[in-house]
Amino acid sequence: MPITEPLAQSPLSADLQAILRCLSCGSKLENDRAAGFVCPACKRVYPNMQGIARFVDAQHYAASFGFQWHRYQKTQLDHDELRESERHFLMKTALRPEDLKGKLVLDVGCGMGRFAEVATRWGARVVGVDLSAAAEVAAKNLASRDFVAFQADVFALPFAPESFDVIYSIGVLHHTPDCEAAVKALDKYLKPGGLLVVWLYSGYNKWYRFSDFWRRYTHKMKPETLHRMLKVAVPFFYNLQQGLKHVPLVGRPAAGLVHHVFPVNRQKDPEARMLDTFDWYSPKYQSKHTYEQVFKWYEAMGMEDMRVGEISIAVRGRKPVKAH
Ligand SMILES: C[S@@+](CC[C@H](N)C(=O)[O-])C[C@H]1O[C@@H](n2cnc3c(N)ncnc32)[C@H](O)[C@@H]1O
Repeated sequence: MPITEPLAQSPLSADLQAILRCLSCGSKLENDRAAGFVCPACKRVYPNMQGIARFVDAQHYAASFGFQWHRYQKTQLDHDELRESERHFLMKTALRPEDLKGKLVLDVGCGMGRFAEVATRWGARVVGVDLSAAAEVAAKNLASRDFVAFQADVFALPFAPESFDVIYSIGVLHHTPDCEAAVKALDKYLKPGGLLVVWLYSGYNKWYRFSDFWRRYTHKMKPETLHRMLKVAVPFFYNLQQGLKHVPLVGRPAAGLVHHVFPVNRQKDPEARMLDTFDWYSPKYQSKHTYEQVFKWYEAMGMEDMRVGEISIAVRGRKPVKAH
């Protein structure tokens, strides 16, 4: 579902083009204005469509996200009166402006660009990748920022090793078929001394069991159909819970039971509530993780200076600087 108006991504700067690599043979890519990026060695072409270089041939299992971020392009984007994404970025990454200022940063699974918006506001140069057509929305939302979006897969990224100062991925890698492999795939692209930050769904609390049951069916629905269904179901279950709370004695436990069996997001803003409920029920893959697991993965990569964020599961580590 491409956006219709032409995108205005500025031409890629020479230093960013220098880190682009062919997925087939690893050679440096050349920019061919008409075709996109072309590998001079094996001649593979990565087309430029709607102003976005495409390093995948389709959205694959992420099509529901393409739908979601085209439908809710700006709902979670910060503006003068709202700094909710910045608040989440702080809590889910433990990064501070001084960690990002002047750094080359990779946002893996950038969605519509809410966190890249924060990172660029803090002075980072950000490259965003997303498997879905969300890359188009991010490029449009951040057209005036130091940001470039590519449609690409975390398991096949078109970058030279050790290209980035900071790599973060928020709410993404648990939506891949193999979260551990996805986390470990990122180490290669980080400069020595660089920071790798991931935020994943928590496996400690089992409240989501019923939603996992429903998702077995909902993820198979067409995104448009699921969205139409949730347009009815979300207000219904939300209002039912709110109403039940006013019933004396049994009201609150009954509202809790409804929420347990038919979980819908409970934010005040109806649009944010719809977006987050769709985001919960649409993905094919949605694994949950513990700090024990993620720390083991980081240890296996040899990461140092480990920190955790304020919202589980948020893990940050530093790639060791090589001994001379
Ligand atoms: C829940 S959204 C999160 C987006 C953004 N990080 C945020 O927090 O707003 C998950 C995103 O991960 C992307 N994604 C899923 N699998 C991916 C993969 N293998 N490579 C790159 N992106 C992927 C989806 O297309 C989707 O935009």
